[in-house]
Amino acid sequence: MEIDDINSITVLGAGNMGHGIAEVAALAGYDVTLRDINEEFVQSGYDDIEWSLNKLAEKDQISQEDADAALDRVTPLVDVEESVTDADVVIEAVPEKMGIKEDVYTEASEYAPDQAIFATNTSSLSITDLSEFTDNPEQFCGMHFFNPPVRMQLVEVISGEHTDEATLDVIEELAEDFGKTPVRVHRDSPGFIVNRILVPLMNEACWLVHEGEATIEEVDSTTKYGMGLPMGSFELGDQVGNDVSYHVLEYMHDVLGEAYEPCPLLAEKVENEELGKKTGKGFYDYE
Ligand code: CAA
Repeated sequence: MEIDDINSITVLGAGNMGHGIAEVAALAGYDVTLRDINEEFVQSGYDDIEWSLNKLAEKDQISQEDADAALDRVTPLVDVEESVTDADVVIEAVPEKMGIKEDVYTEASEYAPDQAIFATNTSSLSITDLSEFTDNPEQFCGMHFFNPPVRMQLVEVISGEHTDEATLDVIEELAEDFGKTPVRVHRDSPGFIVNRILVPLMNEACWLVHEGEATIEEVDSTTKYGMGLPMGSFELGDQVGNDVSYHVLEYMHDVLGEAYEPCPLLAEKVENEELGKKTGKGFYDYE
């Protein structure tokens, strides 16, 4: 598959990352199918794309005409067969659970064209393990976007053990065509590069508060005004989703060891479904 052969992109999962990736692909001129398990989820992702495109147009970052044309290129679907049958590239952005991903890949592989490339937006899971759920592991790699995809410049392009060079080249070119800056990650290790650094930082911020060393506001002031990050650690956690950070840490803890133990404060947020902006409450309130 060459970059010029790519016309249709299917994004599996219409949550925060999935709908953001679909929006980026549609803005770059691709026909995009956005798929989720029911009408409500897929419609909500589609509505979020519409909101974001209109926001970009309001701020003159794109024209209203381009916003409308991008939205027209997005087809929301629930049926898996219909969603992947014409796909040149399938980008998976479903929840960070091996079992869920396995089911999704098994089903999608059955109906996708044999030459289709599969890319996962996983935040930390093994690319090699995920590739083995598909029929062509050499046509599989990581394509990791950052939240919110429409605003964040970086895409990590990650090789698994079976990935061939041609697949990495095409996905890198695709990321560039999306207007992004790809960075190739050669080692398939938990968290890749960004999350190996960023998620422990957010966890450490939680430990500081959990142990009574500092308040959420104090930690956020230091990360924002002292360390030069665009958001405080807790603001960022709420942006990314506390469930996402928690699952990344759980996996890093399993594979890499004790230093990555998720802080109980984060676990509590997940148990209480205070997941951040997407649920209206996390470390801060958004309603
Ligand atoms: N589409 C369109 N507009 C959006 C948007 C979206 N998806 N998300 C936010 N906006 C809008 C907001 O509604 C707000 O609009 P108003 O001004 O009208 O209220 C505006 O953008 C926010 O703009 P700001 O001026 O407040 O902020 P900014 O433009 O300077 O930057 C940001 C916003 C790009 C999110 C910036 O804060 C930032 O870079 N934050 C860090 C994000 C980050 O590090 N992400 C990576 C997390 S790690 C990850 O994602 C990986 C993983 O696997 C866990």
